[in-house]
Amino acid sequence: MANVVVIGAQWGDEGKGKVTDLLSRSADVVVRYQGGVNAGHTVVVKGQTFKLHLIPSGILYPDTKCIIGSGTVIDPAVLIEELDQIEALGISTKNLLISETAHVTMPYHRLIDKASEERRGNQKIGTTGRGIGPTYADKSERTGIRVLDLIEKEALQQQLNWTINYKNVILEKLYNLPPLDPTVVIEQYQAYAERLRPHVVDSSLKIYEAIEEKRNILFEGAQGTLLDLDHGTYPYVTSSNPVAGGACVGAGVGPTMIDRVIGVAKAYTTRVGEGPFPTELEGTLGELLCARGAEFGTTTGRRRRCGWFDSVIGRYAVRINGIDCLAITKLDVLDTLEEIKVCLAYEIDGERCDHFPSSSRKFSRCLPIYKTLPGWQQSTSECRTLEDLPSQALDYLKFLAELMAVPIALVSLGASREQTIIVEDPIHGPKRALLDSNHVPLIS
Ligand code: GDP
Ligand code: IMO
Ligand code: MG
Repeated sequence: MANVVVIGAQWGDEGKGKVTDLLSRSADVVVRYQGGVNAGHTVVVKGQTFKLHLIPSGILYPDTKCIIGSGTVIDPAVLIEELDQIEALGISTKNLLISETAHVTMPYHRLIDKASEERRGNQKIGTTGRGIGPTYADKSERTGIRVLDLIEKEALQQQLNWTINYKNVILEKLYNLPPLDPTVVIEQYQAYAERLRPHVVDSSLKIYEAIEEKRNILFEGAQGTLLDLDHGTYPYVTSSNPVAGGACVGAGVGPTMIDRVIGVAKAYTTRVGEGPFPTELEGTLGELLCARGAEFGTTTGRRRRCGWFDSVIGRYAVRINGIDCLAITKLDVLDTLEEIKVCLAYEIDGERCDHFPSSSRKFSRCLPIYKTLPGWQQSTSECRTLEDLPSQALDYLKFLAELMAVPIALVSLGASREQTIIVEDPIHGPKRALLDSNHVPLIS
């Protein structure tokens, strides 16, 4: 039995969907603990592609319970669309459970998200426009609608009548937008409630019961460490806590229940939206990574900015999340390169800096200090063991493991399940806390 958190160690889109799907084979329960439909997790199974926004990537296993936890924000229209799509493919969604205390994204959240981004002009964050920030803002402000309000007809009516009138003032007076009609929205959301009601549960109780039954639980993070509201590149972040600690709050479990943290990182770096990105490549190399990695957002279709692997943020992610082992994805994307660079540290205002600076202003002045490694210039997508890898690819992985001082347990070389090298069981392998500082990385 092991309860494992899977998190993104960069700026999202690290391949968490693929890794979660792989690890879900040995999970009884998969829990999404934060974020909303800003996430886009792609899973490829037997040539079929599944794009999931809210439903945990474990849904593709018939006996795995999937829980959308309390710390998430739920857009019912998108969730229902996702349910329909999955069911149309012959996959049952009966095992999907939705937390009654998750917050609900309303039409005014989306409108305000888009309007406020427009108003920010060149100060914009580059959000997904899915209403995520405004939904979490209402949660903090204590004007949010929770799933348990959604499914209680009268409570919903009462709450929405008040809230929509309040939000209409903002829409009309601040953003010059037409007001929403409360009757229309209430009717629409009551219909959503009917569809979702059978899935709604006290999710933290369900998770606790599974823990008591010694089930394997996998907590699936969305976004990534550098998009974390508290620990990311604020203000260019999302409005929730994707870091491993967020799993406890978002799922409603105590920290003593978590056994392991697995960090997912690409063999290079990408970022969508605005904000500093020291190792960004703007020329043909950036284009090449984008094309080879098909780096276009699952949710918005936006082009992802691409750059070299940054071990400063890698080490930061190890620290902030307490990562036990890493899953390195998309190594195959680097296959054609003659040389590959890795950022070791930064130079800020003429001084070397080995740590991620909390200030985004300072971060935007960071110049990467690189080490250049030789490329392997051959395909790795068919490799299934470390021995199959070209020596330069293995050296690259060893170098990353050394820089971050954590073992690499899994290497991904393509989007499908089988394009993976399992170096060491990521769930039951050695724990970081048990390794001494001179430990030999699993890739050695
Ligand atoms: P997530 O948000 O972290 O789940 O990541 P996304 O699904 O948004 O983005 C990762 C993309 O890369 C998806 O299209 C995956 O199918 C794809 N992918 C995952 N692992 C690999 C890999 O090892 N190699 C390649 N070429 N593609 C991968
Ligand atoms: P997954 O789970 C990559 C980014 C947006 C923007 C910032 C804030 O697929 O890794 P938001 O709409 O959340 O208020 O936008 O966060 N962002 C993501 N980037 N992957 C994601 O999710 C993201 N979810 C949000 O681009 O910069
Ligand atoms: Mg994604």
